[in-house]
Amino acid sequence: MEKTIEQIHQEALNELEAASEAEAVQALSVGYLGRKGAVTQFLRNISKLPPEQRPAAGKQANKTKKALEKIFEDALNRLKTKDTVTGDRIDVSLPGRTLLAGSVHPITQITKLMCDIFTNLGFDIVEGPEVESDYYNFEALNIPKNHPARDMQDTFYISDNIVLRTHTSPVQIRTMEKQTPPVRIIAPGKVYRCDSDLTHTPMFHQVEGLLVDENVSFGDLKGTITTFVHRMFDDRISLRFRPSFFPFTEPSAEVDILCVICRGKGCRVCSQTGWIEVIGAGMVHPALFENVGYASRFTGFAFGMGVERIAMLKYGIDDIRKYFDNDLRFLRQF
Ligand code: DAH
Repeated sequence: MEKTIEQIHQEALNELEAASEAEAVQALSVGYLGRKGAVTQFLRNISKLPPEQRPAAGKQANKTKKALEKIFEDALNRLKTKDTVTGDRIDVSLPGRTLLAGSVHPITQITKLMCDIFTNLGFDIVEGPEVESDYYNFEALNIPKNHPARDMQDTFYISDNIVLRTHTSPVQIRTMEKQTPPVRIIAPGKVYRCDSDLTHTPMFHQVEGLLVDENVSFGDLKGTITTFVHRMFDDRISLRFRPSFFPFTEPSAEVDILCVICRGKGCRVCSQTGWIEVIGAGMVHPALFENVGYASRFTGFAFGMGVERIAMLKYGIDDIRKYFDNDLRFLRQF
């Protein structure tokens, strides 16, 4: 009796070896394991055996059944993949399914464009951490403990001494600590402020610039910024440098550009003024050089700007939140 189930098992294996198509394997599976299959029949007949033989025969038959089930299934899977891979069963004349290609996010595109303009001017790209210490985000940048910029309303505090950086300026300090002049870097990246409305999001992007060397003047700053604006928009865009204040620069300036939307006539985007503020800049404050141990013969300039602001002007989009909604209908336009 035991021999018979073993014979059935062996026969199944022999036949399977000869089967080269999925249908043949399927038929074999039915022939052995189906309702009228050889293994099924065998199991049914066990009840006709003398009682003392039944347990052993049952055990053996069930083992064979399990083994064949697995072998047939594996063979089927193998043949199915083969069919697909070799293209045997595929109508190659059918049109393919279009793959939707993603696109680079507009903010990433503008960041890249900004980086390209500055690297062409000889600047290197560096990055710094988004989780920053109080020292780099404030202290080393000459922002004392009681400065309004430290107000809880603007800064996301992680602990007393750790913040989410509120600007990319800390990268200035980190770079100067590591490198002696000449320094020529820009630092793109994410920054965080507790603020949210039509023109503010809690996370946004900035590009920071720093140039330190001997004999660097405010004229160099003006030339660099002007070149950047002309390459970013077009060379007929006029600029104006307005006196301003930042703790880390002296003198400081804010840079306005002629409204690229209305070309100075006055519109909603420029609040009817014809000008738009896009960049904060100035000559690096001597206190920063002291903090990083630079000799006093060096001078330098620094600047910082918001990528979203530049992108909004470049694309004529006046709601900053659109950049972060991840609405594909919006994103696909870039
Ligand atoms: N960190 C300033 C901000 O977030 C922008 C800025 C202004 C950066 C003047 C500078 C600078 O490097 O010199 O508003």
